[in-house]
Amino acid sequence: MKGTKSKGTWSFRTKLGFPSFFISCCIFFFFAGFYGSMLLSHDISLDGGGMAGPRLLESVEEVSEVLVPMAHGETGDSNIVSIPFQVLSWQPRALYFPNFATTKQCQSIIKIAKSNLAPSTLALRKGETAENTQGIRTSSGTFISASEDKTGVLEFIEKKIARATMVPRSHGEAFNVLRYEIGQRYDSHYDAFNPAEYGPQKSQRIASFLLYLSDVEEGGETMFPFENGLNMDNSYDYKACVGLKVKPRRGDGLLFYSVFPNGTIDQTSLHGSCPVIKGEKWVATKWIRDEEDK
Ligand SMILES: *[C@@H]1O[C@H](CO)[C@@H](O)[C@H](O)[C@H]1NC(C)=O
Repeated sequence: MKGTKSKGTWSFRTKLGFPSFFISCCIFFFFAGFYGSMLLSHDISLDGGGMAGPRLLESVEEVSEVLVPMAHGETGDSNIVSIPFQVLSWQPRALYFPNFATTKQCQSIIKIAKSNLAPSTLALRKGETAENTQGIRTSSGTFISASEDKTGVLEFIEKKIARATMVPRSHGEAFNVLRYEIGQRYDSHYDAFNPAEYGPQKSQRIASFLLYLSDVEEGGETMFPFENGLNMDNSYDYKACVGLKVKPRRGDGLLFYSVFPNGTIDQTSLHGSCPVIKGEKWVATKWIRDEEDK
């Protein structure tokens, strides 16, 4: 039985003949390679529309295998891209994007931000003042919009964030680039504004995308103390660095949603920045709103 089968296979091969088998292979690999390179070159030209050289805007998206793109709509992409991610948590909904930006892109953003750093400020609740909230947020930072960055890097990153979230770029605030030095921190807080505490809001922050621009030797983690319902018994000290902790790594992204799909604030999206113990932390934050940010 076994012999018959292999004999059958052999006769099929010989019928096709070695030369034609070889030629079919060549044709197959030629087209596979041709398609593959077409996809990759589309990818780079699509995203590299900024003003910087191709090295700064080099795509980190790679097509893992040869996939044939679908016919696309007027505003769609002609290529298939891959943006790898890991779900870190469903409570809050948090996603991690390794290698979202290149080292060069991160360095370029830091360079632009450095010249404009000022002490970070807080959105104040009723009864709060700059004085009585001192120490909650001790980083320095600056807001930079993509249009202000002539290198095109922020535009590139912004487009990639819009793709990863499928929330249009117009819903994002300008990038808030922050530097935390040793001992600097941000106590646990919500990015969404509860109207009961902050008064009526024109629009709501629904998600936050953090792009880590530096490695931090020790400390500086982004923490979610209420992850999966932990520590929610009113005993939590807002300075404590507990719960799910995300270690900053240069070029990596962290996306989390501050509201449920129905728009209610997700209490587990409480988060903070643990104090930097060794090194320096640089991060670019993009707050994404439920309405266009004008
Ligand atoms: C909104 O969604 C959350 C999570 O699914 C749910 O717990 C909450 O009750 C909802 N709120 C309203 C007002 O529907």
